[in-house]
Amino acid sequence: MNSKHSYSAADIQAWLVANLAELIGVETDEIDVNEHLENYGLDSAQAMILVSKLEKMLGFQPSPLLLWHYPNIAALSQRLAEDLPEDAAVIQDTNTAPANAPIPALDLNAEVVLDPTIRPDALPPVTITEPKNIFLTGGTGYLGAFIIRELLQQTNANIYCLVRAANAQEGQSKLAKNLESYAIWDEKYKSRIIPIVGDLALPLLGMGAEQFQILAANIDTIYHSGALLNYVFPYSALKAANVLGTQEVLRLASQIKLKPVHYVSSVAVFESPAYAGKLVKEQDDFAHWEGIFLGYSQTKWVAEKLVKIARDRGLPVTIHRPPLISGDSQTGICNTHDFINLMVKGCLQMGYFPDVEYMMDMSPVDYVSKAIVYLSMQPSSIGKAFHLQHPQPAPLSTLIKWVQSFGYPVKAIPYDQWQAELINNVSSTDNPLYTLRPFLLERWSDEQLTIPDLYLQARRPHISCEETLKALEGSSIVCPPISSEMFMTYTAYLIQTGFLNVA
Ligand SMILES: NC(=O)c1ccc[n+]([C@@H]2O[C@H](COP(=O)([O-])OP(=O)(O)OC[C@H]3O[C@@H](n4cnc5c(N)ncnc54)[C@H](OP(=O)(O)O)[C@@H]3O)[C@@H](O)[C@H]2O)c1
Repeated sequence: MNSKHSYSAADIQAWLVANLAELIGVETDEIDVNEHLENYGLDSAQAMILVSKLEKMLGFQPSPLLLWHYPNIAALSQRLAEDLPEDAAVIQDTNTAPANAPIPALDLNAEVVLDPTIRPDALPPVTITEPKNIFLTGGTGYLGAFIIRELLQQTNANIYCLVRAANAQEGQSKLAKNLESYAIWDEKYKSRIIPIVGDLALPLLGMGAEQFQILAANIDTIYHSGALLNYVFPYSALKAANVLGTQEVLRLASQIKLKPVHYVSSVAVFESPAYAGKLVKEQDDFAHWEGIFLGYSQTKWVAEKLVKIARDRGLPVTIHRPPLISGDSQTGICNTHDFINLMVKGCLQMGYFPDVEYMMDMSPVDYVSKAIVYLSMQPSSIGKAFHLQHPQPAPLSTLIKWVQSFGYPVKAIPYDQWQAELINNVSSTDNPLYTLRPFLLERWSDEQLTIPDLYLQARRPHISCEETLKALEGSSIVCPPISSEMFMTYTAYLIQTGFLNVA
């Protein structure tokens, strides 16, 4: 298909089915056009690949927001056919559902409702010093893998891991594969890592009522790291996994016996422009949500509010807010699919970085996971929140200098020039920026700002981690400095895996 042709909704639907199937590696007959798109588990990069391919096919750039505000392929195809430019002869397909419903305005405060039947105060208080059975969500993800490593080393507990899989065997191999990819898998720990097939997006975590009860009786402590990280999906698409999933975790913690919940939140809870330039401390409230524009950040804001309601009803919780999480400081191992790695790779290929004021406060995954596990085990942590961003951030300009010193021929250019380069000169689909273009160029806010505009330093809060560092004082856990050595380690790993080319 190319932009010279005219497309009916049925044409677009067939194209979407074929391309989605190819992207996620399934047969086309496994794609249901009435299924929610988010249920196909696309990450942000895959979503962007779909958008940029669509752009080529349709001859105009569909808004990435539009893409995810339509619940299924049938509805989306109809809407895209309606959006075709006038010179394209559009044949409407009357068999597809009409999809012209307006996008509803979102009131995040109204979303903060914790099921009143979740009543931890009805159970006797507990103090867990040595958990025997831990329940963990997100064990097939990046941070979750490193939390598993810490829990294996710091406790003797069995770790029951929630995993999306057809059966326990598939769940076990999904967990093992993930741990292997981060060099964490060790056969000797196999018996301590137990898959629990389920889904955060479903009531009772997708388990039957009986299994939920059995788990509620057996587990001592919960680590909730699972979430759908997608920067393109709207709130509505992420709510089931991130908000309602958190509610189900809180339900599990409050049944039969009380179980402390250690919740992985995000510094994104302070993303409202109301906090721009302000100092925010660990125990500060975050009442402002207006102006948080990413659906993902909106879900993290609501989910942490639910955790706090459960705490106020008597549940022992600790809350951990990581910043962007970078690779392991010792080995450089990282999640190569994450947004930052794709951006850096794209800028290297383009030869230009934007010359913007931005402080890199990302923390290595080994620091974040060690801090979470250590802090979760201190009785004095109960009820508190912790900030895990880097205590000594470094300016982006320093990173660019390091990259240049490694031999990459890159230049920092003013942001508007960088944007023009992105629009005019990034035409190779091999460059990750090509697929990220719709996301980076979209005007997201009321002020019509793009994502890079919105994340400029002046728009961010100053996040204090003073109290967190104090709480870590009794341990040997220190956040490794952001240094050229650490970036060398990261670069070496990215080259070794073939993600980056040698300079
Ligand atoms: N990475 C960062 O830079 C960063 C920064 C701040 C906060 N955080 C927070 O840290 C936590 C972990 O992030 P991460 O980087 O490890 O993310 P990740 O690598 O994308 O892992 C996400 C995990 O959540 C699971 N998950 C997603 N939807 C699920 C569902 N419906 N049912 C069951 N499990 C589901 C995934 O399982 P599948 O394997 O089945 O997809 C995966 O195990 C998240 O809560 C995130 O919000 C991360």
